[in-house]
Amino acid sequence: MHDRDCADLLAEVLPTLGLRVEGYRRVRAIVRKRLGRRLNELRLPDRAAYRAYLDEHPDEWAVLAGLCLIPVSRFYRDTDVFEHIAQDVLPRLARDAVAQGAEQVRVLSAGCASGEEAYSIAIAWRLGAAAPLAPPRLETIGVDASPTMISRARLGCYPRGSFKELPHDWATAALVNGDDGGLCIRTEIREGVRFVQGDLRTELPEGPFDLILCRNSAFTYFDLATQRVFLERLCDSLRVFGVLVIGHKEELPGKPERLVPVDARRRIFERCS
Ligand SMILES: C[S@@+](CC[C@H](N)C(=O)[O-])C[C@H]1O[C@@H](n2cnc3c(N)ncnc32)[C@H](O)[C@@H]1O
Repeated sequence: MHDRDCADLLAEVLPTLGLRVEGYRRVRAIVRKRLGRRLNELRLPDRAAYRAYLDEHPDEWAVLAGLCLIPVSRFYRDTDVFEHIAQDVLPRLARDAVAQGAEQVRVLSAGCASGEEAYSIAIAWRLGAAAPLAPPRLETIGVDASPTMISRARLGCYPRGSFKELPHDWATAALVNGDDGGLCIRTEIREGVRFVQGDLRTELPEGPFDLILCRNSAFTYFDLATQRVFLERLCDSLRVFGVLVIGHKEELPGKPERLVPVDARRRIFERCS
């Protein structure tokens, strides 16, 4: 499929999926390749034939939604943001938990891909500035719509390149050699980390969470109406004074009343009411 055909098809179908065209500008090639393969599987000649197929086969919309999931992630993605989370946010949450007598700090990675973000938090918690205060213990839940991503997250093994932004000494302490030349997360780090397959638009794990990371996912790909509804539900799941981190190139829709920016450059917000 040519890029122009892919762009035209996405412009037609994304609104029906609650997604927006702008989110796909830089990653359209990924979707274009997948669509090309799907058309081959269905033996359809072109975009128009696929559009007609969608009209005749309503189940195909779910397949198309799966083709539009962009799984790109890596450990410690956006180093500056992660250093801040490791050095300031997690220690603060640990201190709050100790002061309140809470047994655990709860973290949600919403749109977790293969678990890179959730495990990065677990590594930073165990090996970073929050460690001396433990307990409390950390519970981290990763949610993703893609069953393939969730299976990979549960496996916890990755190509070496996924770790290039992770501080070297942490990588040494947190990883073991895998079977195929890759690296796997040590068992101790995996404790308290779990993964759930689900659509963020319809279900979220039960809160409240102390920290929610929703980066490079909902606020890139969902359309604005869907983002607004989703953000309200995300706020419901965040405890008061809990922290929300979105992608460093993302914006929240409108001016959410319950959130204040505590670090606008890094896109870090706190729930104020
Ligand atoms: C680009 S990755 C970002 C991963 C990670 N948050 C990061 O910043 O590195 C976006 C992830 O969001 C997931 N995703 C997109 N829409 C979703 C939805 N409606 N429900 C759950 N997960 C979704 C995709 O499957 C993908 O794994």
